[in-house]
Amino acid sequence: MADQDIKQIVKDKYGKAALRVTSGGSSCCGSASSRGECDPITSKLYSTTETEGLPAEAAAASLGCGNPTALAELKPGESVLDLGSGGGIDVFLSAKRVGPTGKAYGLDMTDEMLALARENQRKAGVQNVEFLRGEIEQIPLPDNTVDVIISNCVINLSADKDRVLAEAFRVLKPGGRFAVSDVVVRGEIPAVIRRSVELWIGCVAGALEEQEYRDKLGKAGFEGIDVEPTRVYRVEDARDFLAKSGLDSDAIAAQVDGKFMSAFIRARKPTAP
Ligand SMILES: C[S@@+](CC[C@H](N)C(=O)[O-])C[C@H]1O[C@@H](n2cnc3c(N)ncnc32)[C@H](O)[C@@H]1O
Repeated sequence: MADQDIKQIVKDKYGKAALRVTSGGSSCCGSASSRGECDPITSKLYSTTETEGLPAEAAAASLGCGNPTALAELKPGESVLDLGSGGGIDVFLSAKRVGPTGKAYGLDMTDEMLALARENQRKAGVQNVEFLRGEIEQIPLPDNTVDVIISNCVINLSADKDRVLAEAFRVLKPGGRFAVSDVVVRGEIPAVIRRSVELWIGCVAGALEEQEYRDKLGKAGFEGIDVEPTRVYRVEDARDFLAKSGLDSDAIAAQVDGKFMSAFIRARKPTAP
C-alpha cells in the first residue's frame, strides 16, 4: 500500500475516534478494529491520580499502548515533543512534569484530533502547551529544539519509520532523550499471521521487530538503546478477532503467544557528533 493511502486510512480512523469523543463517547469502542476501552492494549494505562484534573475528554481519547511520561523521567524546565499526540493526554501529563518553565508540544496530522486536543487545552487552562499540525515524518520544528521526544503507539502506524527516527534525532538537542511507547514484535512470525494480529492491535503499517527497532535507532544516530516490555499480549486476548480473520487461534498459539508486546523504547542523541 502506498504511504499516502496508509496516511489517509490513519487520518480517517483517528478523525472518527476524535469525533466520537467530541460527541460524548469513548475514542475506541465501536471502532473498525477491536480496539476499545475494554481491550487489553489501551485500557488501564494511567492511574486516577495521574488523570485527576485533566479534562474528561483527554482521558476518553486515550488511544496509546503505554504511559511514556511515567517512564521518561521528565524534569522541570525541559521541553518535550509528543509524536502523534491525539487528544493530548501525554502532552498534558508532560506539561505538569516540566512545569511552567518547561514546554510540551503535541504533533498530530489529524484535524479532528488537533481540534479536540486544543479544546482540551482550553478546558485545562494550561499555558505551557502547544499543539502543532503536521506529520511525524516531517516534524515542523527546527534542529536541536527539544530535550525529550515521547510518543504513544504511533510510530507503528508510519510507513516510513526510518524517516520518523531521523526526524526525531534531528529535533532533539544533543544529549536529548527518545522515550517512546510502541508495539513491538519479538522474533519471527509467519507473514499472514503477523498481519492479522497487527490489524487486531491497530498497527496499520506494521510493528517493528525488536532487533529491527534497535538497528533503525542505531542507524539514525541514537545510542544507549533499550527496549523494555511493558505489556505482553497473549493469543487469548485476540481469540475472537483471529477467528473472524479465519485463523485457528489454537493452531497458531505457539507462533504468536507472547511475541507481540507494548514496550518502552529508550535511546539518546549523543552529546557530541
Ligand atoms: C493510536 S493514536 C495515539 C494518540 C495518543 N498518542 C494517545 O496515546 O492517545 C495515533 C495518533 O497519531 C496520529 N498519527 C498517526 N500517524 C501520524 C503521522 N504520520 N503524523 C502525525 N500524526 C500521526 C493520529 O492522527 C492519532 O491521533
